[in-house]
Amino acid sequence: MSRLFRIAIDGPAASGKSTTAKLLAKKLGFSYIDSGAMFRAVTLKCQLENVNPNDISAHNKIVEIAKRCKIRFPSLGKVELDGQDVSELIRTSDITRNISLIASNPDVREVLANQQRAMAKGELPGAVSNGFEREGKGIIKGVVMDGRDIGTVILPNAELKVFIVADVHIRAKRRFDELKKRQGAALTDTLDQVEKDLEARDLADRTRKIAPLLQAKDAVMMDTSYLTIEEQVNAIENMVYERI
Ligand code: C5P
Repeated sequence: MSRLFRIAIDGPAASGKSTTAKLLAKKLGFSYIDSGAMFRAVTLKCQLENVNPNDISAHNKIVEIAKRCKIRFPSLGKVELDGQDVSELIRTSDITRNISLIASNPDVREVLANQQRAMAKGELPGAVSNGFEREGKGIIKGVVMDGRDIGTVILPNAELKVFIVADVHIRAKRRFDELKKRQGAALTDTLDQVEKDLEARDLADRTRKIAPLLQAKDAVMMDTSYLTIEEQVNAIENMVYERI
C-alpha cells in the first residue's frame, strides 16, 4: 500500500521556506519542488532571449517562452532549464528584480501551475520520492512544494499546509548573507538595498490580482524569526507524523 502525502509551504521571500522544504524532503524521502525556481527560470529565459518583461506588447512572446521552458529538478536543490544547470544563474539580483512582472502574468501562471500539479502527482519528471515506511501504514511517499500560492491555489487539498513568516530585518540579513556566500566580492547590493528589494517583492506578491501571497485558512502559521533550521524542520516533520 502506498499513499501520497503533499506538504505545501508558503510565505514571503527569504522566510526560510526553501531551506526548510529541502531538508524536510531529504529527511522524509519526499520529492522537493521549488515553484519559485520555475518563475525564476522563465525570467532567465526571457533575459536570454532579450525579451523585456516590462514590455506589454511582448505578452504573447513571454507566455510562449514559458511554454517552451523545460524545467526539471534533477536532484535536491538543483534546477535545470532546457538541460542546463541554472541553479546559480536564476538567483542573481537582476532576475529577482524582474520576476514580479513574470509572476503577475496570469497566462504564465497557468502554464506553470499545470506543470506544478503534474509534478506533484509524479506525472512529470521531478525529484524521485522513495518515501518512508510507517508501521501499519505502509510506504508513505510524498512531495514538498514551496512558493506563494501552493496551499491556496496549486494544492488546495494538500495533507499539510505551513505558512512561514519572519521579521523583515531578519529575512533581509539571511538573504544578504546567502548572496554574499554565493557572489563573494562581486556582490554590489548593500543590506539596506536587499531589505528594500524584499519589501517591494513581498508587496507585489501580496497585492497582485492573481494567486497572491496569502495564508490558506487551514495552514499552520510558523514564525521562524528566532528558530533554528533544525527546529523548523523537526516541527514540520512532527506535524506530518501526527497527520498520518
Ligand atoms: O521563492 P522565490 O523567492 O524564489 O520566488 C521568487 C518569486 O517568484 C516570488 O517573489 C514570486 O513573485 C514568484 N512566485 C510566485 N508563486 C510561487 C512561487 C514564486 O509568484 N508559487
